[in-house]
Amino acid sequence: MIAATGGGRVFRPGSAIAFLMIALWLAALSWACHGGPRGEHASVLSIAREGGEPGASGGASSTPLLGTAAVVEAHAAPGTPPFGVLARTPRLTKAPCANCHTVPLERMRWDGSDGRATAHWPVRLAHASDQVMTCTTCHAASNLDRLRTLTGTEVTFDHAYDVCAQCHSTQKADWEGGAHGKRAGGWAPPRVIYSCTECHNPHQPAFETRWPARAGRVAR
Ligand code: HEC
Ligand code: HEC
Ligand code: HEC
Ligand code: HEC
Repeated sequence: MIAATGGGRVFRPGSAIAFLMIALWLAALSWACHGGPRGEHASVLSIAREGGEPGASGGASSTPLLGTAAVVEAHAAPGTPPFGVLARTPRLTKAPCANCHTVPLERMRWDGSDGRATAHWPVRLAHASDQVMTCTTCHAASNLDRLRTLTGTEVTFDHAYDVCAQCHSTQKADWEGGAHGKRAGGWAPPRVIYSCTECHNPHQPAFETRWPARAGRVAR
């Protein structure tokens, strides 16, 4: 239906309604983006406006999700942005090792030949061949509260990845870059990742081969 208006212009009620609806929709959108109920959700626009550091994540942080977990700053390769690693020492059941290891290892060592269990009977080395790897390849014999590198530098249990990296440099580089391993506390900064021994038992690091899980079948 067409109604004539003064001045010869044509007025279409349908288009007026459409115009009104678009205007209302725009108003609602702008309210949602600018002034909507604050607190629960930050609007996309406010996140963009408040940008920069650390607002690029909209103020989100991994810290609350990490809870009380101890984190240490990782020894990152030069040029790598700093990141954290979940500490391992607080979770070692046998630490501090010096509680028992008060004398040199040679004087404590027991091979279990009389049938008694050795102190560390759950530790069975199934990693590399015996010719290249013994306990003291990784553990500092003179200070069992520390690991050691092949050249004798002492390393804490929290930085065990420095020991692994000597022989697994590819995985170490992937891990540092985020392609191997897992991030703790979600994707928000600060970046904190799992250390190698969070997933791999250093004494038996290989995972057993597994078949992929199959979805359950629907009974007919
Ligand atoms: C409760 C006492 C106790 C604690 C705690 C302890 N050890 Fe020992 N450890 C022993 C004894 C005893 C031996 C030697 C005799 C044996 O193997 O039973 C030994 C032997 C060892 C050996 C030599 C094993 C071998 O076969 O040559 C290593 C390596 C070692 N301990 C590492 C550690 C580390 C690392 C820690 C800390 C994370 C630790 N121990 C904590 C009691 C302890
Ligand atoms: C490839 C390096 C490596 C070798 C070889 C190795 N260890 Fe360890 N060991 C580690 C690391 C790394 C840890 C810390 C594990 C963690 O973060 O959970 C550890 C932890 C331990 C602990 C403490 C476990 C706990 O939960 O408190 C004992 C005890 C121990 N090792 C004994 C031994 C003994 C005995 C041998 C030789 C039979 C041995 N290790 C060989 C790397 C090694
Ligand atoms: C002195 C060298 C050396 C050190 C240090 C070392 N590894 Fe190994 N690792 C080896 C060798 C050698 C093998 C056996 C490779 C093979 O069988 O192909 C191996 C095997 C492995 C495997 C199994 C690989 C596979 O293909 O299944 C894993 C996982 C692993 N190491 C993780 C670690 C971790 C984690 C650490 C640190 C706690 C570590 N390694 C420290 C030399 C080392
Ligand atoms: C979040 C758990 C996790 C962390 C952290 C982790 N790995 Fe692994 N790693 C795995 C899994 C899963 C595999 C694959 C196992 C398989 O396919 O059988 C693997 C495989 C490996 C292998 C076998 C070769 C390969 O690449 O598949 C090596 C060696 C290895 N990891 C070393 C390391 C080292 C060194 C670190 C620390 C710098 C590390 N891993 C950290 C879970 C982890």
